[in-house]
Amino acid sequence: MQAVQAGRFGEPDVLALADLPDPAPGPGQVAINVTHAAVGLIDVYIRQGLFQGREGLPQPPYVPGLEVAGTVRALGDGVTGFAIGEKVVTLSGDATGGYASVYVGDQSRVVSTEGYDIDPALAVAVVPNAIMAHVALTRAIQISAGESVLVHGALGALAAAFPGVARQLGASRVVGTVRTERMGAAAATKLPYDRIVDSAELPDALGDEKFDVIVDPVGGSVRTQSLDLLALSGRLLLVGNASGDWNHRIDGNQIWQRNIVVAGFNAGAYLPAHPEAIRPAAEAALKAAAAGLADTEIEILSLADAASAHERLENHTANGRLVLTP
Ligand SMILES: NC(=O)c1ccc[n+]([C@@H]2O[C@H](COP(=O)([O-])OP(=O)(O)OC[C@H]3O[C@@H](n4cnc5c(N)ncnc54)[C@H](OP(=O)(O)O)[C@@H]3O)[C@@H](O)[C@H]2O)c1
Repeated sequence: MQAVQAGRFGEPDVLALADLPDPAPGPGQVAINVTHAAVGLIDVYIRQGLFQGREGLPQPPYVPGLEVAGTVRALGDGVTGFAIGEKVVTLSGDATGGYASVYVGDQSRVVSTEGYDIDPALAVAVVPNAIMAHVALTRAIQISAGESVLVHGALGALAAAFPGVARQLGASRVVGTVRTERMGAAAATKLPYDRIVDSAELPDALGDEKFDVIVDPVGGSVRTQSLDLLALSGRLLLVGNASGDWNHRIDGNQIWQRNIVVAGFNAGAYLPAHPEAIRPAAEAALKAAAAGLADTEIEILSLADAASAHERLENHTANGRLVLTP
């Protein structure tokens, strides 16, 4: 198969095209002919060596890529419920290997898209994140119909899944924040935000508006500001740290004084312990994607462009999702 391999941890140029043996599915696994592989910030962190030595994460040489769309190529022993040729998308798990023409993943993380009118590029760009958004909004916190939601880094890969899923779950109003340089893209987005504001202008840009739920994949200064933007008894849902500010702290006294709940959600830790959460969330995510609630910008590149895709994610010059095609 054709694949992109990281020969060592380091700069984007450690990624190179390689011709590797086709992987075969083991028991409980599904092999997929990949048509589209998502490129995510987590792939960049892994390649940089940020999680070097952490259990379950790959060591070089490895093929990056956690999420793919394609068709079922072969089934391992004991796999039922999938047919050869069926259109599928995968949810990230322990396996890497997405930047390749053939991918093998655990059956519990393979989701059929048959019966849904979803382009495979859109499927890989949004369905895994929409599954995570659904699980986070229904299990890490329990969002209620009529609640208002603020999403930081509103156009980011994970963040972009939240407005549609929140609406599907009955949110009455969804507002986003982006940095100044993204305001142009924010004006053009088809994502179902009522409004997107410049995070540099917080809190003034929002006047007196307060939110029942704030979704924060960004961290740093917007996380600090979030406590002031929450309604009494509001919930701050922490799902990432795209700002790279790992030393950030929040004020515990504000939390108890205003009855705030701070919840964290990490799909990588949650889903293996709660696999039963995946199927209902997947059904909701597929419906949201098919209904156009997750129409994020997608740019399709070839596998050979993996290094430049990583560079653009690192420089924050990608507009929407980058998807590789073999
Ligand atoms: N909880 C989970 O299960 C889970 C799953 C997937 C990803 N994540 C985490 O979620 C975070 C976002 O991942 P992603 O794949 O959505 O990344 P992404 O597509 O690059 O999005 C990150 C967003 O963060 C915003 N941002 C604001 N300040 C930033 C700064 N100083 N530097 C970089 N970005 C900044 C950017 O938005 P603007 O420029 O528009 O403001 C950007 O759109 C990461 O920390 C990732 O590890 C968590």
